[in-house]
Amino acid sequence: MRLKINPAGPVRGITTIPGDKSISHRAVILTSLASGRSIINGFLEGEDCLHTIQAFQKLGVKIEKMGPGSYQVDGEGLYALQKPTGVINCGNSGTCMRIMAGLLAAQEFYCVLTGDNSLQNRPMDRIIEPLTMMGARFWARQDKFAPLGIRGGNLRGMDYSLPVASAQVKSALLMAGLFAEGDLYLDEPYPSRDHTERMLKYMGVELEVSGNRICLSSGPSQRLKPCEINIPGDISSAAFFIAAALINPGSEILLKNVGINSSRSGILDVIKKMGGRLELLNKQIAGGEPAADILVKSSKLNGTVIEGEIIPRLIDEIPIIAVIAAQASGETIIRDAEELRVKETDRIKAIISELSKFEIEVRELKDGMVIKGNNTFRGGVQINSYGDHRMVMSMAIAGLIADDNTIINDCDCINTSFPEFIKILKSLLN
Ligand code: S3P
Repeated sequence: MRLKINPAGPVRGITTIPGDKSISHRAVILTSLASGRSIINGFLEGEDCLHTIQAFQKLGVKIEKMGPGSYQVDGEGLYALQKPTGVINCGNSGTCMRIMAGLLAAQEFYCVLTGDNSLQNRPMDRIIEPLTMMGARFWARQDKFAPLGIRGGNLRGMDYSLPVASAQVKSALLMAGLFAEGDLYLDEPYPSRDHTERMLKYMGVELEVSGNRICLSSGPSQRLKPCEINIPGDISSAAFFIAAALINPGSEILLKNVGINSSRSGILDVIKKMGGRLELLNKQIAGGEPAADILVKSSKLNGTVIEGEIIPRLIDEIPIIAVIAAQASGETIIRDAEELRVKETDRIKAIISELSKFEIEVRELKDGMVIKGNNTFRGGVQINSYGDHRMVMSMAIAGLIADDNTIINDCDCINTSFPEFIKILKSLLN
């Protein structure tokens, strides 16, 4: 699919954002391990999360769709997964592959995980190494790339410091820890998203978190209780419309029921620091996760510095933050974000190359970029997607304020995380 974006006026209106991708993956994974029937509402029906559902169906878990975004999962406990016939395909999803690998590292059968071209080129040594230390065996291309062969069982707890703040690695190890003999201790350099910890606790697992350190008590005593999970809207998806409202004069939008977990809400902090007009209304907690309605108005923004502990709290929003920054006055510097190089594509290179086509001045750093503000987006350009959903949606928002049409090629990847993106965007433009 090719997208043509015309220069547009303000965005206005009220909309609901589809379910959070990270929480949707975890909801399927953890309810599949519970003993009994769970209900999931607000599940994100994007390709990434549907791959996680299919993976568990292959492992013998009964998962039934009850209505839009609503699923019934009949878990049979921690020790009921069955050897799958054939390979498990994780599509484009790093979260699916890494967390599944942690779980499969504890199963006493051989299993193979694969994914699309992008996923086969993302580093898996970050899970292979610690899971091997716990006792699992892995086979991987060049010792680090999928397809991954896994034979698990007989895992031991350990005390491990994650070299990078990664919720996928942390969650993979927590999955393995549920089955391990002996406690599992994990330390992170900075806090990454904590949806797994929250959901484990919500389902009755004994887990202690203090600062950046987690302790999961010895596996064999642990049980997951079935539950109902209501998933809030995805702040990473909301970010595109928040940006559209901020940079389009005359805009005002209300985004309903968006997850505002502080391990994900770095973008809100940055926008406030830049002078953005943004309010959180109707705050609530559902299933252990905080949510709110987000009211955003077009704003005069100032450049800023984004670095250090905030980076994992907004890592997926950096492509759209770069678009916002190009409209702010002064420079914006993004540092400590080397992880962007191993996302669905090298997002530092992709942002620099595509923003430059709009004649935005942006300079590459080893671990980030410097964006010159007060720029006009020159339209009439052809944008590459790099097969990366967040690149497509960020460039589509840039296209709204460009001075001519923007063509974005190869856009089907939007379906991995946000199939309703275009429909919602159109509704806010009318
Ligand atoms: C995710 C964690 C992050 C994020 C990804 C989703 C998750 O990746 O970039 O989109 O659901 O755990 P890392 O854990 O690799 O930082």
